[in-house]
Amino acid sequence: MSLQKRTKEQAKVVVIENQKGGVGKTTIAYHVACFLAELGYRVLAIDLDPQGNLSSRFLSRAERINGYRSVHMFMADRPVFAPLSTSVEVDIVYALDRDVELGNVERIDLGAAMMSFGTNLEPLMDDYDYLVIDTPPAHGNKMTAASLASTHMFVPVELAAFAVTGVESVMETLAEIGHLVGRPVKITGLICNRIRNIEAHRTALAEMQAAAGNLHVLKSKLYANTAIDTALRDGIPVWKKKTSGAQRESAKIMLTLMKEIGSLIGAKAKSKPGKPVKKVKQQGVTTA
Ligand SMILES: Nc1ncnc2c1ncn2[C@@H]1O[C@H](COP(=O)(O)OP(=O)(O)OP(=O)(O)O)[C@@H](O)[C@H]1O
Ligand SMILES: [Mg+2]
Repeated sequence: MSLQKRTKEQAKVVVIENQKGGVGKTTIAYHVACFLAELGYRVLAIDLDPQGNLSSRFLSRAERINGYRSVHMFMADRPVFAPLSTSVEVDIVYALDRDVELGNVERIDLGAAMMSFGTNLEPLMDDYDYLVIDTPPAHGNKMTAASLASTHMFVPVELAAFAVTGVESVMETLAEIGHLVGRPVKITGLICNRIRNIEAHRTALAEMQAAAGNLHVLKSKLYANTAIDTALRDGIPVWKKKTSGAQRESAKIMLTLMKEIGSLIGAKAKSKPGKPVKKVKQQGVTTA
């Protein structure tokens, strides 16, 4: 893939990754995509997780038809479909709920998977400013392809038990992927999630920061807050609903994190917010 050959206006590919499950990948990917769209950028979310959690935050099951599915990105000869647009002005290359075909991408040859993914990513990079990729909790073809394509990678970590081993295994996996593809895969930052202000978490945070070595740990941290879970279930960013104290608190914390991520990926409010690309849905043959 010729991603490095692009000019300075190239789209940025922001990947949220950790092979550990339930650490907040989808939560963060969803909010980053919404945040960038609100700043006026043309944003495409790509859901590589066969659980389809990110897709279901943007579109109902019934709405996810006749569009570009993420499994298509792993096909050398993909059916011609366009990303679907959503009410929050983020376009999406979606996964179905329990997307068996996307799961089966792990059975194809890694080289072929990466080649198709890279080739299919290229035209998308011409259409958008930011591609935000949510990944599955597994080290495999999809995670490797996303890692290779990333211009920025964020790794959420949960400060419960095993935070240190979690960080170490992410670093090991990325080193392995780097070795495989012949160039290092760089982590932009670790994001601490579900912090509780208790002594055990303060100790875990210090240990994790020590284990992270030179890795950048974002200053903004997400606290465990049920408003985050509720907002995600309702399919709205946390900053859109601020009626209770917990909601206002989570909105503030999430926006602080988004601004820090934004500064790391070169996003700032545009004076004249752009409009997301309006796609004309193309007809084609799908494997759905
Ligand atoms: N800071 C938080 N406070 C409260 N709930 C949270 C927080 N972060 C995430 N959650 C909730 O925890 C659950 C897991 O989060 P999420 O789905 O983002 O993790 P994930 O890493 O994408 O999981 P998977 O590996 O299964 O894809 C979700 O229900 C989400 O709403
Ligand atoms: Mg997820």
